[in-house]
Amino acid sequence: MHYLPINQVKTGMILGRDMYDFTDKILLHRGKALTEHLILRLQDYGYQGVYIDDELTKDLEIEEIISMELRTKALAAIEKLDVDGVRDIAKEIVDGILQSGTVSLDMIDLRSFDDYTYYHSLNVAVLATIVGMGMEYSEEDLQALCIAGMFHDIGKQFIPQEIINKPGKITPEEFAIIKEHPQKSYDFLSDRLDITSNIKMGVLCHHENEDGTGYPLGLTGDKIHPFAKILHVVDVYDALSSKRPYKKAYARSEALEYLMGGSMSMFDENVINVFMKYVPIYPRGMGVILSDGREGVICENNKGSSLRPRIRLVNGEEIDLMDVERYSTLTILKQHDEEALTAEEIERIEQERKDLNEQLRTR
Ligand SMILES: [Fe+2]
Repeated sequence: MHYLPINQVKTGMILGRDMYDFTDKILLHRGKALTEHLILRLQDYGYQGVYIDDELTKDLEIEEIISMELRTKALAAIEKLDVDGVRDIAKEIVDGILQSGTVSLDMIDLRSFDDYTYYHSLNVAVLATIVGMGMEYSEEDLQALCIAGMFHDIGKQFIPQEIINKPGKITPEEFAIIKEHPQKSYDFLSDRLDITSNIKMGVLCHHENEDGTGYPLGLTGDKIHPFAKILHVVDVYDALSSKRPYKKAYARSEALEYLMGGSMSMFDENVINVFMKYVPIYPRGMGVILSDGREGVICENNKGSSLRPRIRLVNGEEIDLMDVERYSTLTILKQHDEEALTAEEIERIEQERKDLNEQLRTR
């Protein structure tokens, strides 16, 4: 199977994965041939893309680390501020990631969710756990880190949602209110004796920058809790690669570039290195265009180099970008799910980048 953005799906294509409705009941079964009507229906359900089965990728199985059932349970537990529920789910997520024996995270968001904060929190928890595993954390620490990921932005529930979801520019007063959310997340957990201090400190300090320009405490380097350093990196990465009311999604490679640019000043260099080693930037099944114009599908991620995976070209030939002798000048130019930008759009994005940087330092 491979992934296709919904606007590239054509009638007659075969679904590669079961699709669900809003109540997580199966809407369409894998193997179903898509009609124009069904494609429109999937769009109505908010699906931005689907998995398709075809000859080229029929042997390529992509498993979800987090099942739809666990995802639904997790989102509900975070929303209901159910600390015990979140703890149980963290255990399941850590077990799932450890058992999979691989750190390959094939995570493509098929649907755009309205409840962005909870969905983002779950992504942060999963990504943080993978980085923690790369750092050889104990199972106990991984579970704690995963809980911290799910609760890092919980304080936003205590802030007016009009400010959190406001499209366009926010005022300095609104910025100040948004900046209160790590403290509010911490306050929510502070009375819980069963929540360890590393979870609390991770949550409190997830917007601290290495150079002391972050908040709420303005801590520098070693003073920032290791959990918070990890959460900070994966939080910004996930925020950048998501579509929000106030911005387009960045390509994953661009988001990674942003992280590397902020290494040392905003982020801990070691966390960035582990992140780049263990978090696959191009998920398996993703269609890509190479710098020489050829097209293909990511079929395998190479351990230790998230930007140079193995690619199956449309003619069935496979090339391994890790083979630097043969492919030293070949790179991935573009993912199939990236929207093509016009020259004016690129110019506007450049202008907005400065504003965006400022917003990301605060959200
Ligand atoms: Fe945050």
